[in-house]
Parts: sequence; C-alpha cells; structure tokens
Amino acid sequence: MPAADTSGLSRRRLLLGGAAAGAGAAVALGAERAGLVPGAAPEPAIDAAGLNGERVVPFHGAHQAGVTSAPGAHATYLAFDLLAGTDRDRLRAWMRLLTDDAARLTQGRGALADLEPELAVRPAGLTATFGLGVEAVRRAGAAVPSWLGPLPAFPEIDALEARWSGGDVLVLLHGDDPTAIAHLARMLVRDSRTFATLRWRQAGFRRAYGSDASGTTMRNLFGQVDGSTTPQPGDEAFDRAVWAGPEAPAWLRGGTSLVLRRIAMNLEGWDEVGREGREAAVGRRLADGAPLTGGSEHDAIDLDKKDASGFTVINPVAHAASAHVADAGAGIVRMGFSYDDPVEAGAVDAAGRPAVSNSGLLFGSWQRDVDAQYVPMQRRLARADLLNTWTTPIGSGVWAIPPGCEEGGFVGETLLG
Ligand code: HEM
Repeated sequence: MPAADTSGLSRRRLLLGGAAAGAGAAVALGAERAGLVPGAAPEPAIDAAGLNGERVVPFHGAHQAGVTSAPGAHATYLAFDLLAGTDRDRLRAWMRLLTDDAARLTQGRGALADLEPELAVRPAGLTATFGLGVEAVRRAGAAVPSWLGPLPAFPEIDALEARWSGGDVLVLLHGDDPTAIAHLARMLVRDSRTFATLRWRQAGFRRAYGSDASGTTMRNLFGQVDGSTTPQPGDEAFDRAVWAGPEAPAWLRGGTSLVLRRIAMNLEGWDEVGREGREAAVGRRLADGAPLTGGSEHDAIDLDKKDASGFTVINPVAHAASAHVADAGAGIVRMGFSYDDPVEAGAVDAAGRPAVSNSGLLFGSWQRDVDAQYVPMQRRLARADLLNTWTTPIGSGVWAIPPGCEEGGFVGETLLG
C-alpha cells in the first residue's frame, strides 16, 4: 500500500503505535490535529486516505441539522414514552439535557460526565434531530398541529405492530460512523431515565462511507435506485415541501414533520420476479434508475408516453406513477435507510419454507403538513401500487420536528422556553 506511506493514517500509526494506542490516543490525536507534533500537518476533514471521521455537521442553526444534511451511512431512531410525572417543566429540563448531549457529541466533544470521551472525537458527520409526538406537545401546553397524531389507517396494506410504532419523543441520529452513533444513543438514553422510557429503537443503513462517490443515490434492498426524484436541500422545492410557515403554530415555524414507516420487503417473493417485472413495478430501470420512458436517472418521467399498442409505457399503477406529484414542492422529501435484521425464530416465507430475510426500509419523509402532502399520496399508493405485492408497513409514527436552536438554546425552546 505505497500510497498510505504519506497519509494521515500512517502518521497516526507511527504516533500511536498501531491499534494498541491506549489511553494516550486522545491526547496524541489532539496534539497532532493542532499541528503540535513535529512534521504532522493538521488533518483536513476528509484526507487523502478517504478518512472523514473528523467531519462535523454544525448542530446549531435555524433548522435541525439532520433534516438538511445528506443522510449518513448509518441511522438510529430512538422513540421514548414520557413518564407520568414529566410535565412541562420536566420536559423542558429533559430537552435541555438532550440538546446539550447532542450539541457536544455531534461536534466531536464528550458529553458531560462522559466516561468514554474518546468515542466522541470521530463524529463523522453525526447529526441528532428531535421530534415531538402529540402527547409531548399537549404536555408542553402548546397548540397541536392539526396533522399531529397517528396516520389514518390504510387497511389495504397496513400490518402495524406496536413495537415499531408511536412514541412521544423521537430522536433520529445519522452519520457515517456507527460507533459515534452508538455512543450518542447511549448518552441520550442514559440521560432520559428519569423523564421517559425507551419505547423502541430501530437501526438502518445505506452504503458504507467511501463505497460510492458522495451524492450517489442509494439502492434499497430490492436493488432499486431509490431517492432519485426527491428534492435536495438547497432546491426551491425542498424549502417549499419541508419548512412549516405561517399556517403552522408559531412554535413550529422553521420546523417540519417526520413520518416514519417501517416497511417490510418480501425479498423471497421479489426473488421470483424477472427483471422486466421488477422494472415495470416501479417504472424505472434497475441498472441506473432511469425512467422506462428513457433518458438517464435524473431525467423527467413521462407518464403519458404510449407504446406501439397505445398503452402507456409506464403502468399507471407502477410505484413511481402512482406516487408522482407534478409539483415537487407540494410533495414530500424522502430519507430512507435499509434494515436487515436477524430472521425471527420460526419465521416462514409464503411457501412455508424457513424465511431467509427480515429486511426492509425505514421510510422517512419530511413535509410541512402531513395531511396535505403525505396522506393523499399514501392513500393513492395503498389503493394502487404494484410494489404493494412485496411490501408491508409494519411500523408507523408521526412527529413534529421543531426548528433548530442557537448556541446556548435548546431544541423545543419555541414551545417550552
Ligand atoms: C418499501 C417501500 C418502498 C420502496 C421500496 C420504494 C421505492 C421507490 C423507488 C425505487 C422509486 C423510484 C426512484 C425515485 O424516484 O426515488 C420511488 C419513488 C417514489 N416513492 Fe417510493 N418506495 C417505497 C415506499 C414509498 C412510500 C411509503 C411513499 C410515500 C407514501 C413513497 C413515495 C415515493 C415517491 C413520491 C416517489 C417519486 C415518484 C416520482 O415522482 O417519480 N414510496 N420509490
């Protein structure tokens, strides 16, 4: 590996004596970073060896960082139920504490009374985003947005389980390093014990950092390019779709909402489908995600284009056709992570054989108004979507995502401050 000879990695190996760096590691790394070790230049955020451990996404700002930053390679969702005694004052104290943990750990600093501060020094783009369910907003004594609460039932498709659904307070952690995520998750759960109980925890992933050039659209576990058409931060449509404005209660302006659906994907059933059938189910090519009507991944889909027999090239009940909205700013912004969990004891596939997989998508979407943007789309998809043959929603929840806060403030201050 000749290229590594001049890299930051080999400098660190020399300094720290390889993997057994021991207790001096944090000190030595700090010194190296500050340029205090002779011959050691300060490390860039992503160095020549492709390292990005020191990449920091600012925590403070007008919006919560996990909404506006590119999804990391790993995600963990935590949902809490409030204890009976967690009233408005206790809720405020808890949100201050959680904000403090997140503000430190996402910036590469240990939490207060952190016994493993070394785990904090490589945040790798870690973000923490907090959401409030209807019960938390009620206890805060604030105006409840009309759409906050469980989604309406979609009896055609839903097989929801309580163990993946609901929660009074939600935290989404995403970043490129699962160790940094695990450490922040532990600090948050530890500091929550006198305020709430952990209701559920769900983890998901995308490609590992460095597997794809950054900005490459993810592939889900059906092998599909997934997310091509979703508005990106900085797009005018993103801002219109996501940020709550004057129509929302004052405390939510500059915030948004999150819908999270845990959607099981029947990979055994998908295995039975040929390539053509798979492409027809979505209306896009597997190889590159381009619409079946031609062009490349980011070209517009043409839902009116007819084939020689006069049928539309893309079936109107193909997933992309049924989900499509003409104005992206009136739609939703999707952020998905795959999950691939151990098969549960005794699980079988449709043919009665032992199940091979327990996989799916943690489907997340940001929108300023769940009833106006998410629900009509989900209704269309519940009634008519070829993908439904292989997908089953097994978890569901809706949270209000307050705006971000500035240094010294806390997330939730607009309704608890
Ligand atoms: C496991 C479940 C799902 C899978 C595997 C899946 C997969 C896909 C794929 C492969 C595409 C095409 C590429 C793209 O534009 O991103 C797509 C598009 C889309 N999906 Fe899904 N999806 C799922 C669930 C959902 C749900 C629950 C919703 C919303 C309620 C949704 C909304 C959309 C939208 C709005 C588009 C863009 C349509 C367009 O304008 O072309 N999807 N999805």
